[in-house]
Amino acid sequence: MMIAAPDIQVERSTSSKLPGVVLENIPFGRVFTDHMLEADFEGGEWKNVRIKPYGPIEVDPSNAAWHYGQSIFEGIKAYPLPGGEVAIFRPYDNFRRFNISARRMQMPEVPEEIFIEGMRQLIAVDKDWMPHYPNHALYIRPFMFASDNAIGVRPSENYKFMVILSPSGPYYTAPMRIYVEEQYVRAVKGGVGYAKTAGNYAAAMLATAEARAQGYDQVLWTDAFEHRYVQEIGTMNVFFVLDGKVVTPDLSAGTILAGVTRDSVITVLREAGVVVEERAIAIEELLTAYKAGQLTEAFGAGTAATISTIKELRYKEEVMHFDPASLRMTPMVLERLNAIRYGHVPDVHEWLFRV
Ligand code: COI
Repeated sequence: MMIAAPDIQVERSTSSKLPGVVLENIPFGRVFTDHMLEADFEGGEWKNVRIKPYGPIEVDPSNAAWHYGQSIFEGIKAYPLPGGEVAIFRPYDNFRRFNISARRMQMPEVPEEIFIEGMRQLIAVDKDWMPHYPNHALYIRPFMFASDNAIGVRPSENYKFMVILSPSGPYYTAPMRIYVEEQYVRAVKGGVGYAKTAGNYAAAMLATAEARAQGYDQVLWTDAFEHRYVQEIGTMNVFFVLDGKVVTPDLSAGTILAGVTRDSVITVLREAGVVVEERAIAIEELLTAYKAGQLTEAFGAGTAATISTIKELRYKEEVMHFDPASLRMTPMVLERLNAIRYGHVPDVHEWLFRV
């Protein structure tokens, strides 16, 4: 797809941090490349699109985003292809979702020529930061926040859009223990559950901390009314292997994030001939199936997390165990997705956007 190139100013850093960085198994989200992209929404239009050396930005203490939370983001990955090229995985899907989040939070949409072309040019500038190891990638974090300097409660008139890059290894390396949450709520119909907005993550932290204190890695959210239907895991969509089929919560209530990895998983499973059902899933259904030996696997799927094995699911006093050594569907999905992402099989869906 051809995009009109915006006028992106590039200021290169005078020295690179890269020689001091070990890329193999680098912890998620702590190391950032040499450059970042920044653009300003002022006077009703986007302007000053620029790539510049990575570093702190100046923000006024009255910054509207800090006080009222108009802040959204995306998570995308770029992968190394055989032969040295780099491809961004499904950036247009994240671009569309970003603007869905923007509309929900009463923020301006970011045009394609800034979101897509900006990240393409940024990655081209910092391409040497791509980690060339299995299950590693260059994580791309586009984000936008209100930048009015005023504490009146109203939508900001000014915004900043930025993209930063972080070389990343596997997010959750060990199989996860998941706690089914019945006290706190992440999202409710009519709320902001489908938007990738900062407050959703802030609202999840107390529940996650309490689950962690009991030895769990993440919570599995349940619906706000009955705590009966499962929604998603902290940073991932969730899938279950039930009687040979794969089931995952549907998106109709607007309470879970429409994951790009979620959609990719559904697609590769169906191509492999697996029946996938997107529907309401009651926790009792899972428990009953588990006791009957029909619930055989559970996994999380997300951009940062990729495919994360679940080894334990705790619901009230019941614990469902899944032996990581006996999984079939979970490794198959990961293998098929990786083959596409790392360019080892033809890209029939045109999911790869070459930098
Ligand atoms: C992602 O998977 O990219 C996310 O944004 C989830 C998380 C790291 C916040």
